Amino acid sequence: MGTVAVGMSMSLDGFVTGPHDSRKYPLGEGGEVLHEWLWSKATAADQAVLQEMADGVGAILMGRRSYDFCVGDGGWGDGGPAGDVPCFVLTHKPPAESPDVFTFVTDGVESAIAQAQAVAGDKTVGLHGATAAQQALAVGLLDVIQVHLVPVLLGGGVRLFDLLGADPVNLVRDRVVEAGSGVTHLRYNVVR
Ligand SMILES: NC(=O)c1ccc[n+]([C@@H]2O[C@H](COP(=O)([O-])OP(=O)(O)OC[C@H]3O[C@@H](n4cnc5c(N)ncnc54)[C@H](OP(=O)(O)O)[C@@H]3O)[C@@H](O)[C@H]2O)c1
Repeated sequence: MGTVAVGMSMSLDGFVTGPHDSRKYPLGEGGEVLHEWLWSKATAADQAVLQEMADGVGAILMGRRSYDFCVGDGGWGDGGPAGDVPCFVLTHKPPAESPDVFTFVTDGVESAIAQAQAVAGDKTVGLHGATAAQQALAVGLLDVIQVHLVPVLLGGGVRLFDLLGADPVNLVRDRVVEAGSGVTHLRYNVVR
């Protein structure tokens, strides 16, 4: 079975969006800077990290807000964030219609991860969205945390590491890639 990994771009003050994220501003107001390393400022080192993730992912798990903000003309077109890679979406109320690549899960994160792993086989289940990662951590199902640390302080928005509870989560640093773009790609294994 493959690993379960969250990979998100995060500001130095811990936000994965700027304030007021929405369909108009999926990364919040001023949050576009978080993804410049993917596009306009991408260096060879950034592209290698991105390609490694694209090659390794077998399924994606996200929350409903990420879906609502980015589906279709919000940015993903006819597919999901990684084209035709199957995507599982945590929600309390599935939409009436959606592109074929999406499966909606209403019975919790453990069920969603099991379904995603069944599809992904030996490949990675990639988590997008903060709440999916927090819930996977809480139930002991998150193996890897990959943070693309962007040199900006956003001051508000969605925090990646919120609602973690009182007990420390121990990590082992696995890799650091200093990309010339200014982004530092950090990868940690979760100790369980
Ligand atoms: N910086 C990056 O790299 C990056 C990457 C991806 C996304 N993002 C951004 O991050 C933001 C989304 O993060 P988020 O954490 O606020 O939201 P999210 O995880 O995308 O979605 C949260 C929603 O998912 C549903 N949900 C979550 N857990 C559930 C469960 N166990 N059972 C049923 N439904 C559940 C609920 O919606 P319902 O109750 O409405 O169903 C909940 O409000 C978006 O703005 C997105 O654009 C940033």
